[in-house]
Amino acid sequence: MMNGAAINGDRLLANLKRFADIGATPKGGVNRQALTALDREARKLLAEMALRRGFTVFQDEIANLFIRREGRNPDLPPLLIGSHLDSQPSGGKFDGALGTLSAFEVLETLEDQGIETERAVEVVAFTNEEGCRFAPGCMGSMAFSAGEIPASWQDLRAVDGAPFAGELAATLAGLPEAAMRPLGFPLYGYLEVHIEQGRLLESEDLPIGVVTGIQGTRWLDVEMTGQTAHAGTTLLKFRRDPMRAVTQALADLYQRIMPGDDQARFTVGRMSLQPGAVNAIPDNVRLTIDIRHPDTSALDAMEQVIGDMFARHAMALDCEASVTRIFDMPPAAFPSSMVERLAACADRLQLPSRRMLSGAFHDALFMNRIAPSAMIFVPCREGLSHNELEHVEPHHSVAGCELLAAAVRDLVGVSQDMPAH
Ligand code: GLV
Ligand code: MN
Ligand code: MN
Repeated sequence: MMNGAAINGDRLLANLKRFADIGATPKGGVNRQALTALDREARKLLAEMALRRGFTVFQDEIANLFIRREGRNPDLPPLLIGSHLDSQPSGGKFDGALGTLSAFEVLETLEDQGIETERAVEVVAFTNEEGCRFAPGCMGSMAFSAGEIPASWQDLRAVDGAPFAGELAATLAGLPEAAMRPLGFPLYGYLEVHIEQGRLLESEDLPIGVVTGIQGTRWLDVEMTGQTAHAGTTLLKFRRDPMRAVTQALADLYQRIMPGDDQARFTVGRMSLQPGAVNAIPDNVRLTIDIRHPDTSALDAMEQVIGDMFARHAMALDCEASVTRIFDMPPAAFPSSMVERLAACADRLQLPSRRMLSGAFHDALFMNRIAPSAMIFVPCREGLSHNELEHVEPHHSVAGCELLAAAVRDLVGVSQDMPAH
């Protein structure tokens, strides 16, 4: 074991349970979507816990929440550790919460052990990582890394109709104890613990994944329009049925994209039909498509195929299709020096680990644009995530946090040599 790295595992597990109660669902998961009252409640609890420990609490204009434990030299850029507290609508207890609460546990451990660090260590809970209530995802880390909030976000509406600007203002106002600070500031580095959300670690019986990078993601908004008409009287040859065109295009795409390339991911997660009457042909179908791949050129090719496919099936049925890209996250590679460092810490803690690519996107992807970043994965049962049944064995949660604690000490306490980015 690394000297002094041990964290308080029972406290971490108790905190995970406390936060899982905020937005708990009957099936044992969490519904704590971004910028809702429940999200505010979780942020408030974390801020209260931080203030009780004597840490300082800040937020920025996108409502990223920061908890600072001061270092000997307050002018040095802090090391940032954390994740997010928002969840999917049918989310689990660990996606985001594990990384945020592990980071907070590391801060508490430093405090318990009276360890002074040269530079400050800060915990962050980024705003709207999930992107399911307001798209895009990773709003907090994206705005932080860009140093500004894109103007186009001002008019966004949630899937439940709530205005982004109003929900953001209410979230900021809900935490008057957090001093406002500018968006984006120099960082020494960024570390994030997260559940793997796949089956690799579990299948190899490994407690730790050292993440080397994150595959690329694009989100597309597809709209197919036709003509609404009577369901009982309209002959096939007179129908301009956008649902028929959409399902035919999707049948072809499901056949083509994922079976053709085992690194490709293709998901339709949301669809709506207008006017939405049981006995009327719809005149409008909207759907979202999530595509992922480690190579940008493969993403380009997938997007092209999708656009062509909807156009072809629209034309065949006298409908009109539009495919709009609403989110583009190019693949990221973490600096090898950070990856090596994490792997070396895992070895010192005698935690078996492997290097791996992340299939999910994370705030670390954006933080890596401005500071050397890296991620620690722990296994989750059957790789199940974005699901209320998401589960992490307690000893795996504790192991991930132990490794984070060791890596933080390595980066800010023991060695002051920062890896080149
Ligand atoms: C993150 O939640 C993702 O969808 O990868
Ligand atoms: Mn997450
Ligand atoms: Mn998620």
